[in-house]
Amino acid sequence: MDHFELRDGVLHAEDVPLPRIAEDVGTPVYVYSRATLERHARVFREALDAIPDKLIAFAVKANPNLAVLKVLSREGYGADVVSGGEMRRALAAGMAPRKIVFSGVGKTRRELSDALDSGIGQFNLESEEEGTELSALAADKGLRARCALRVNPDVDAGTHDKISTGKADNKFGVPIRDAAGIFGRLAQLPGLEMRGVAVHIGSQLGDLAPLEAAFGKLGALVQDLRAEGQTITHVDLGGGLGVPYVRGERLPEPAEYGAMVARATKDWGVTLIFEPGRVIAGNAGVLLTRVVRVKRGINDPFVIVDAAMNDLARPALYGAYHDFVAVEPDGERTRSNIVGPICETGDTFAMGRECDRLAAGDLAVFRTAGAYGATMASSYNSRGFVAEVLVDRDRYAVVADRIEAGAIMEAERVPEWLA
Ligand code: LLP
Repeated sequence: MDHFELRDGVLHAEDVPLPRIAEDVGTPVYVYSRATLERHARVFREALDAIPDKLIAFAVKANPNLAVLKVLSREGYGADVVSGGEMRRALAAGMAPRKIVFSGVGKTRRELSDALDSGIGQFNLESEEEGTELSALAADKGLRARCALRVNPDVDAGTHDKISTGKADNKFGVPIRDAAGIFGRLAQLPGLEMRGVAVHIGSQLGDLAPLEAAFGKLGALVQDLRAEGQTITHVDLGGGLGVPYVRGERLPEPAEYGAMVARATKDWGVTLIFEPGRVIAGNAGVLLTRVVRVKRGINDPFVIVDAAMNDLARPALYGAYHDFVAVEPDGERTRSNIVGPICETGDTFAMGRECDRLAAGDLAVFRTAGAYGATMASSYNSRGFVAEVLVDRDRYAVVADRIEAGAIMEAERVPEWLA
């Protein structure tokens, strides 16, 4: 459930009519709802009520906006980060270092070193090579890095290939058959406290079965490691729970996920770590856009909006579906092609989509844009970076300024020898 609803024929974010935001801030603009973020954070946490020891670490990549992180920090969430930049954001939002987990296959020496200095809660090591490097760094500083080994369980998550991470030939984690050996060797190195294992098989999962299969393999690994005398106190189960993009679409509810987790992990006796991203932020945001003009097409008209693939990349990258609705629908429906102004055909949000009738100047939104939206924006076609707004009941604030194309140009230089 979210807080974007029609009231007297006008789409609102909580108590704020979207035309007011479009008027004040301009379009395109991402609009997030604080109440929705909080609701999702609570629903997810309550779904895990049966798990006594846990850390919920929001996957910052889904929505790294500082104000969004602040909302989640106040809900007691920690952070799953994958770069020095994300770590800085989590800390700036007030998340305790202990609640920060650092994932990612390519953490640089600098990032590892900074994370050690910040005293983060856990490094999810993605290779033996990374563990060896971290050991040397930590030993040098006289520190011990708390670590989990990320394993690749070779499970097909049944999601889009580009966001699937748990198949044997994906770059993530170490092959599960090698995991015990690698863990044993890393556990002997100075500077490392090898305390657990981690898994994340993919994103936008529509079925819990592959997750349960992966957790089953992880449980067996925990047993094997303990049998070899290792101490396992933490298991990170990653994120991945999908959200409905198409209205009426049925996806596993957080409660079903929680019940499955409780079942799969009941005798593990560890602290469980969760890294939800999309399920928290996805439906807490929309991308508000204005129709530039409507152009006749061979079959259907082209509704050209002022948002483009540089603002919302998911349709161009993954062929993703985002519901598209008018802010002030007149009740008429029509088939249209929804496109942005960028000069490539990839800048298409939908072809032949049955949707609200729109005319030049009208406002509309792409729904379910709170996760992997603004964070994946670029300035392609010199369009600048999209603005972001957070609504809280009847007030709102700009939580990320629009970065105009001119400001980006100011960071560029023509060398003297070209002048
Ligand atoms: N943990 C790890 C280690 C991850 O790699 C990810 C996402 C998550 C947690 C959070 O997954 P979630 O709960 O959000 O599914 N840009 C793509 C999604 C990429 C996801 C990458 N990893 C999209 O727009 O669909």
